[in-house]
Amino acid sequence: MAKAGCFNRSFMAVLFLTFSLCFVSTLAKLQQIDHPLNSDSLRILVVGDWGRLGHYNQTEVAFQMGRIAEEFDPAFIISTGDNFYENGLTGTDDPQFEESFSKIYTAKSLQKQWYTILGNHDYRGDVEAQLSPILTNKDNRWFCMRSYIVNTEYAEIFFVDTTPFHDKYFTHPGHDTYDWRGLVPNREEYLSNLLKDLDSGLKKSTATWKIVVGHHTVRSAGQHGDTKELLKEFLSILKADDVDLYINGHDHLVQHIRSLDSKLQYFTSGGGSKAWRGEYDLSKEGLKFYYDGQGFMTVKITKTDADLIFYDVFGNVLYKWSVSKTHTAT
Ligand SMILES: *[C@@H]1O[C@H](CO)[C@@H](O)[C@H](O)[C@H]1NC(C)=O
Repeated sequence: MAKAGCFNRSFMAVLFLTFSLCFVSTLAKLQQIDHPLNSDSLRILVVGDWGRLGHYNQTEVAFQMGRIAEEFDPAFIISTGDNFYENGLTGTDDPQFEESFSKIYTAKSLQKQWYTILGNHDYRGDVEAQLSPILTNKDNRWFCMRSYIVNTEYAEIFFVDTTPFHDKYFTHPGHDTYDWRGLVPNREEYLSNLLKDLDSGLKKSTATWKIVVGHHTVRSAGQHGDTKELLKEFLSILKADDVDLYINGHDHLVQHIRSLDSKLQYFTSGGGSKAWRGEYDLSKEGLKFYYDGQGFMTVKITKTDADLIFYDVFGNVLYKWSVSKTHTAT
């Protein structure tokens, strides 16, 4: 009798848990952060693949980011992930947070909100540490979530956690271990919920400019090439929902590729530190610009125009690209 009662209670608990999980996942929505600008444009600085204790020119890139940002005056900074090498953070007390972030991006012009996402190297450490408000208490610029939306007057920016899409990290992890806590209830549902939320968020968006930021390449002429898992449903959503820009890191370089069958433009800004891999395919379809070395990007967006610029480790302009929505608005 006692046994049966106990069984019943745990059965009820399981039922309740299952029910609440289902309830949560059907209600799951990407958290939305409003970032009001009170300005005539949205200006963003974008850097990726950076945290190396200042080595591999990280400090030099940081210095030039500070110099360019002084005039550019970005509203915020975006990190495309791989924030801490080689294996993310060991915990919220890992000194790498200060050594690779707080003590590197010291310019006054970089004392802005940093919207960051996780890269595959971050998943090799304690993921929950990077997501923890304890880091934001240590350095109030830090903001990291898996997937979320930043809403401004000129553009809506969708940050997407792309690492769990990549089959290789699950099937051939090699000597690397990944912190998959938080992929609830399981990987498949995590991904399908994420795609559903992204799709519905983009469809609901009334923003003139829609930008999606992820760590992994969708298309790239660099060493990693295209991420085949992202060429399927993920890319169909970006195209169907009228996304203007997909911004990523992962390949340690800066590049621009245009889509051949939509208005989507792919920008890689992954040159925050170690670069010069020397493996690329310059015959890549749609490739507009490729630079194998360190660098970063500025993005300026108004109601009608978007202007993107790549800078190198000396703060020199490498490439400029602009697009306007005025001639289509007839
Ligand atoms: C740092 O940048 C300079 C200038 O581009 C380059 O000569 C040097 O090789 C870079 N160092 C590393 C480790 O990438």
